[in-house]
Amino acid sequence: MVQLLPPRTFTCPTARGVIYHHGAHVTDWTPTGQEPVLWMSEKVRFDTETALRGGIPICWPWFGAGRDGVSSPLHGFARLAEWRLVDTVESADQVKASYLLVDARPDKFAHPYRLTYEVSFGRDFSAALTVRNTGSSRFSFEAALHTYLKVGDVRQVRLTGLDGADYLDRVAGHEVGPHTQQGDVTVTGETDRIYQSTNDITVVDPTLNRSITVSRMNSNDAVVWNPWIDKARTMSDFGDDEWPGMICVETANVAEHAVTLLPGKEHTMGFTLTLGSVA
Ligand code: BG6
Repeated sequence: MVQLLPPRTFTCPTARGVIYHHGAHVTDWTPTGQEPVLWMSEKVRFDTETALRGGIPICWPWFGAGRDGVSSPLHGFARLAEWRLVDTVESADQVKASYLLVDARPDKFAHPYRLTYEVSFGRDFSAALTVRNTGSSRFSFEAALHTYLKVGDVRQVRLTGLDGADYLDRVAGHEVGPHTQQGDVTVTGETDRIYQSTNDITVVDPTLNRSITVSRMNSNDAVVWNPWIDKARTMSDFGDDEWPGMICVETANVAEHAVTLLPGKEHTMGFTLTLGSVA
């Protein structure tokens, strides 16, 4: 087991943020005077073999086991790779950081590429992943910014913005559907769904008396995930009693929305998080 390099902490008058080089993994965004917005497991493993449990893992170039169903590691290798910090820009109301990953794991992905990940911490939070095809043939990829949001009690939470959206249900271990969402999303058991929607999604959390709005850019899918009781017990880096405190709302392009890039072209997918209070 190899320990991780220490993370980099970013601060400005409006916020604090933390990013590990391992996976360019954001583990904290805390606006000044607020509770942390991102959830991290108390059982997280800090080693190079695994992705950190919580925060924002970057899933690329495939999601889950990929479109062929057998790709490994799960959710791609970008969340396990060591990224390079290439720029930081501080101003009075935000601090920005850019990370780079170039041609890592050619054994797993045989096309030359360049990934840039730009993050901004302030009163709002934003993250954007740009994929550039630096080779001479086209390639396609899936991607997800697998955001773990901290909530007071997931059983009391509702997600607005997805009424009428089609979704694929992954609880069975494969995709079932499409089904159509009726009304707000509530979590009453293991939940693992790919919503085919570009709408803003608001997590309404009466327990913490706040709302978190996820506004996505160039993302055709939103994955909503909570493992609930039994699945949480199967994960060694996820405490048995931690599942009520989180919900993932992932900014994604997966399955039929995989992106194809011609040589020399690039694609950016991202999101912004905005806090509000509960009416
Ligand atoms: C979600 C998937 O995005 O990530 C779930 O839809 C999966 O199926 C979850 O269980 C966690 O994945 P991992 O690889 O980080 O344990």
